[in-house]
Amino acid sequence: MIEFRDVVKRYGEQLAVDHVSFSIPEGEVCVLIGPSGCGKTTSLKLVNRMLEPSGGEILLNERSVASISPDELRRGIGYVIQSVGLFPHMNVAENVGIVPRLLKWERARRERRTDELLDLIGLEPQLYREKYPAQLSGGEAQRIGVARALAADPPVLLMDEPFGAVDPLNREVLQLEFAALQRKLQKTVVFVTHDLDEAIRLGDTIVIMKDGSIVQHGVPEDILANPADEFVRRFVGTDRALKRLACFEVSEYMQTANTVTRHEAEQRGREPNGDGRIHPVLWVTDDDNALVGMLEPDPDHASRLAYRPYVALHPEEVGVQPPSSLREALSRILGQGLRAAPVVDERGTVLGEVRLSDIEELNQKGIVR
Ligand SMILES: Nc1ncnc2c1ncn2[C@@H]1O[C@H](COP(=O)(O)OP(=O)(O)OP(=O)(O)O)[C@@H](O)[C@H]1O
Ligand SMILES: [Mg+2]
Repeated sequence: MIEFRDVVKRYGEQLAVDHVSFSIPEGEVCVLIGPSGCGKTTSLKLVNRMLEPSGGEILLNERSVASISPDELRRGIGYVIQSVGLFPHMNVAENVGIVPRLLKWERARRERRTDELLDLIGLEPQLYREKYPAQLSGGEAQRIGVARALAADPPVLLMDEPFGAVDPLNREVLQLEFAALQRKLQKTVVFVTHDLDEAIRLGDTIVIMKDGSIVQHGVPEDILANPADEFVRRFVGTDRALKRLACFEVSEYMQTANTVTRHEAEQRGREPNGDGRIHPVLWVTDDDNALVGMLEPDPDHASRLAYRPYVALHPEEVGVQPPSSLREALSRILGQGLRAAPVVDERGTVLGEVRLSDIEELNQKGIVR
């Protein structure tokens, strides 16, 4: 969908983008990351012709962007600029409606679209339509920036540190919202960030840049497992084994869980499942199938087929949901001193479990150097 072919951008003597080639398939998120001044923003601006390259070309759907007028180009490309960039003298509805207004949509259609987008990003239209940027929190302003870029439903989005200006907690909320939105909308996205965790969470692929060049391009788990050189190794940090776990979804590593109802556990005492087998963890559920506790084997018991006394658990403290990452599962496991984390839905129903032993095995297999 987007292809950089040997792209060069000079500012006078300085090479801001130095012979860069890579491509992004339709519907994927490609994250550009690297130190300040390495050429990320410049690369983005070359895509929608806010800047012209000094050499090479960029293709959009196999057409050179140089052959498409900037007006037409920008209709198909939403742009979220570094540090939000909402117009302070326009209210939220006017900010979101900028591109539709340029496209001369009728007022009613614009208003419908604005409300639809505010709903989509989780801001009540009634409450937010008329607000001015100064009356928004940092996170809300960032969301409006994303809504504005989506207004004309462009297939391509350029996002320059869209969540850079918010604190880490809110940033994580915005990232998760964006990931959910992207699963639904399937845009082709070039996303710039400084934040490696953000890159891992959102990127289908990651391009690591340094001094205008690409030093590594790949899927997050490979970059973390096999950094191309010392620069990337230092960039991804010493805890890359842990970070890499953020690339894997719980749903893919979930195993069948053994469960028993509370009622059954009470009736049969320390041998609740009565099948003559002992499980490393037996999850206890209430009558609605929601997790309420667990039983672990009692190695000291004479029959060796008994469990220790019942331990009460709260699904929201120990459980992970299927779209979460193995990194989260591991933190639950370690935080609670368990052998496995239960996988639950939002109602606490046990869907399966993620085992510590599986996570350890995955880590040993993956990290080559
Ligand atoms: N208009 C300009 N004129 C001259 N030099 C520029 C101009 N814009 C950017 N540069 C230089 O080009 C290089 C790349 O800048 P760019 O804005 O692409 O960096 P970046 O990777 O986005 O950095 P940051 O993470 O700080 O946003 C920098 O060294 C910068 O000083
Ligand atoms: Mg920049």
